[in-house]
Amino acid sequence: MKDQKILWECSSCGHTQPQWTGSCTMCKSWNSFAEQLVYREKNKKYQSKNNIGAKAVRLSEIKVDEYKRIKTNISELDRLLGNGIVSGALILIAGEPGIGKSTLLLQLSHSLTVSGKKVLYISGEESLDQTSLRAKRLNISSENLFLLSETSFSAIKAQIDLIAPDVIIVDSVQIVFKEEIPSSPGSVVQVREIATEFMHIAKGSNITTFLIGHVTKSGEIAGPRVLEHIVDTVLEFEGDSQNGFRLLRSIKNRFGSTDDIAIFQMTPTGLSQIENPSEMFLSQRMKNISGSIVAATVEGVKSILIEIQALVTHSVFPNPSRKSAGLDQNRLALLLAVLEKKIGYKLYTSDVFVSVAGGMKIIEPAIDLAVLLSIASSFSNRPINAETVVMGEVGLSGEIRTISRIESRVKEALNMGFKKCIIPHRNLKDVSKKLQSEIQIVGVNMVNQAIDELI
Ligand code: TYD
Ligand code: MG
Repeated sequence: MKDQKILWECSSCGHTQPQWTGSCTMCKSWNSFAEQLVYREKNKKYQSKNNIGAKAVRLSEIKVDEYKRIKTNISELDRLLGNGIVSGALILIAGEPGIGKSTLLLQLSHSLTVSGKKVLYISGEESLDQTSLRAKRLNISSENLFLLSETSFSAIKAQIDLIAPDVIIVDSVQIVFKEEIPSSPGSVVQVREIATEFMHIAKGSNITTFLIGHVTKSGEIAGPRVLEHIVDTVLEFEGDSQNGFRLLRSIKNRFGSTDDIAIFQMTPTGLSQIENPSEMFLSQRMKNISGSIVAATVEGVKSILIEIQALVTHSVFPNPSRKSAGLDQNRLALLLAVLEKKIGYKLYTSDVFVSVAGGMKIIEPAIDLAVLLSIASSFSNRPINAETVVMGEVGLSGEIRTISRIESRVKEALNMGFKKCIIPHRNLKDVSKKLQSEIQIVGVNMVNQAIDELI
C-alpha cells in the first residue's frame, strides 16, 4: 500500500514541513523550500532488517576481529585513515571544486589496483575521455581499474553487481540520482538517498566505497551535513588553488583518530605527499631580515614550523591599513593594541601587513607571540636571530599564556636545526630535562621580556 503526500523541504538544512513558508522555520534561509512528493509504504516504517528480529548478546560473547585493512601505498593517507582502509568502510572526501579530489582518488585507485584490488571508478562529472586523459597524465594504466561514466543510480548498481569490485569510487555523490525521486540531483533528498544506498552496498557486500562531495561556498558539505552522519569517515581537503599544497584533514573517523592531517603538494604529475612540511614552509626563507620570524604551530598531531612575515610602513592616510593573510584580522588588531599600550610603539601612524608565508591559514593563538615579535622587528627595523623559534599566546595585559603540546613543538625546532626556543615561562616544566639540554630554551612571562630577548 502506498500513500502519497506533499512535503516542503528546505534545500539548505533539510528541514521538512507540510506548508510552504518564505523563510525556513529552522535555518531562516529565504526561498529555500522545494516541493517533495513522499511515498510512504504503510506499516513498513520501523520494520527490522531481518524478519526474525535480532537477539541481544552479552558484550563478552562478541568476538572482535581486528578490522581488515587495505594498505594504499600512499603512506600519509594510510596514516590518516588509521593505518589503512578498512574494507567495507564508507568514506567521504569533501572539498572545493578544483582542489584535487578526483586526482587523489585516481591515484589511490591506481595504487589499490597495484596491490591486486579491483576498482570501479564512477565518474559522473567527467566523460571517460577526460578521466582517461587524466589517468595518462598521472601515468596510470591498469587492467583492474574500471571506469564508468554514469549518473543514474540504477545503472550504476547494475554495473557494480556485474563487475563485483573491491573498491568503488563515486565522483561525485552530488551528481548521481535516482529516477524515482522527483527532486533534482544534488538536492538534500537525492544526496541523502544516494549516500544511504551506497552505505548499504558498502556494508552489505563489504565493498570499500569512497564518495566525493563538493562543499558549497559557505563551507558546508552540500546537502548540508546530511552526509556526515551516514558515512564512517570524513576527510576534508583544504588549501587554495593558488598554493601548491593541500591539507587533507580527518574530521570524523570510526576506524581511527580524528583531528589529524596529511599534507600533499599538487605537481604536474599529480599529488605527492609531503612528509616534512616544516622543510617546505621554510624553504624560501631569507635569513637576517627584519620582520621575519619562525613560529611553531600544531596541525592535527603534527608540529609544523612556519615563517611569519610583517611589514610596518609609514602611512600617508589618516586611517592606516592593517592587513593580514592566513591570520585572523581580529587577533592582529588585539596584538597591535598590546604593542601600543604595553610597549609604547606608536603604530597608529603605520600601515601594518602580516602574512603566513606559504599560504597556510592558522587559527590557534599559539602563534600570537611570533606575530607580535615580527611586527616589533619590522617596526624597529632590527632582524631577529634566524636560529630562533617562538611560541606562546599573548593575553590582553601583555602576559604570555601557556600553550598545548609544547614538547612536540620544541622537538620539531630541534629536528629542523634551530638553536633556541622562546616559550611561555609556565610551560617550562612541560619540557623534559633531556630536551632542555639539547636546545636552548628561554621562558618568558611578559611581552617586553620577549622583545628584550630578541630585538
Ligand atoms: P581535480 O582533481 O580535477 O579537482 P577536483 O576533483 O577536486 O575538482 O584537480 C584540480 C586541479 O589540479 C586542476 O586544476 C589541474 C590540477 N592538476 C595538476 O596540477 N596536476 C595533475 O597532475 C592533475 C591531474 C591536475
Ligand atoms: Mg573532480
